[in-house]
Amino acid sequence: MAACLRAGNRIPTPGGQDSLGRRSGGSDPSRSSLKRFGVDLLRPGCDELPVPEAAATLVQAVLNVLQMETNEQYSPNYQLLLLWASLSNVVPVAFWTLAFVFSHPNIHKAIMEGISSVFGTPGKGKLKVSEDDLKKLLLIKWCALEAIRLRSPGVITRKVVAPVKILNYIIPSGDFLMLSPFWLHRNPKYFPEPELFKPERWEKANLEKHAFLDCFLAFGSGKFQCPGRWFALLEIQIFVILMLYKYDCSLLDSLPKQSSLHILGIPQPEGQCRIEYKQRM
Ligand code: HEM
Repeated sequence: MAACLRAGNRIPTPGGQDSLGRRSGGSDPSRSSLKRFGVDLLRPGCDELPVPEAAATLVQAVLNVLQMETNEQYSPNYQLLLLWASLSNVVPVAFWTLAFVFSHPNIHKAIMEGISSVFGTPGKGKLKVSEDDLKKLLLIKWCALEAIRLRSPGVITRKVVAPVKILNYIIPSGDFLMLSPFWLHRNPKYFPEPELFKPERWEKANLEKHAFLDCFLAFGSGKFQCPGRWFALLEIQIFVILMLYKYDCSLLDSLPKQSSLHILGIPQPEGQCRIEYKQRM
């Protein structure tokens, strides 16, 4: 699968960034170029889309464009990549966010109070969630980010395309360099009390300006940083709101550890984690 993603190789030290390829603090300058890239990619295809597809979901529209823009041979590869990239991490993060929240009763209670104050008493009715509502429910976004920090991908890999010096070592071309978000996020220098689920640590991040906490690497870094990261957070926030609004849930098992078998992407739970849920009236 990885072989069909990209013909070129990656190296993690582009100019203007730190040794991990991270742009520090402030707004994220890669955003505007990504936005341009996205618009340029989508615009030609969107104009040609037949009406029913254009009106369908964003994912369907993107898949249609990919089908038109890529040659027949590679089109299925790109489509599979996009499906994999967009689902394989968001689904486990949604699970972990809920599991962490349920295993911290004070946080669960604070989130429920927030939901009630924005939408009224939780129940089974239809819910419309606006951007303004999300801004009032920041704690949920912090919980998602904290869950991602604690259950982040084991490694992100780059192939060295030209010899690179790191400290006193020369890494020859052809070697693979691996960064571990999982272990970086457990360094107490950057994340005090790293093993604790502390959503409030995200208060310091300038999320309005689309900046994470320094040394948070779950979405990769530099030129090839995950382009779906803010969309993913949005999906997770909305999913958590809907689940908690409509269902009364609690954990039947204690919070599981992450499986050490998954080093690529968000790890799955090591053991079972049953949740009891009851539809609200
Ligand atoms: C919480 C959810 C997600 C996590 C943790 C995540 C994580 C990552 C990571 C670690 C990378 C590799 C970055 C690098 O090599 O520096 C990546 C790449 C990518 N992600 Fe995500 N991702 C998530 C959600 C999404 C979503 C929702 C989409 C699409 C809608 C998406 C699309 C992509 C794509 C297309 C790439 C390849 C980018 C490139 O190679 O230029 N991801 N993601």
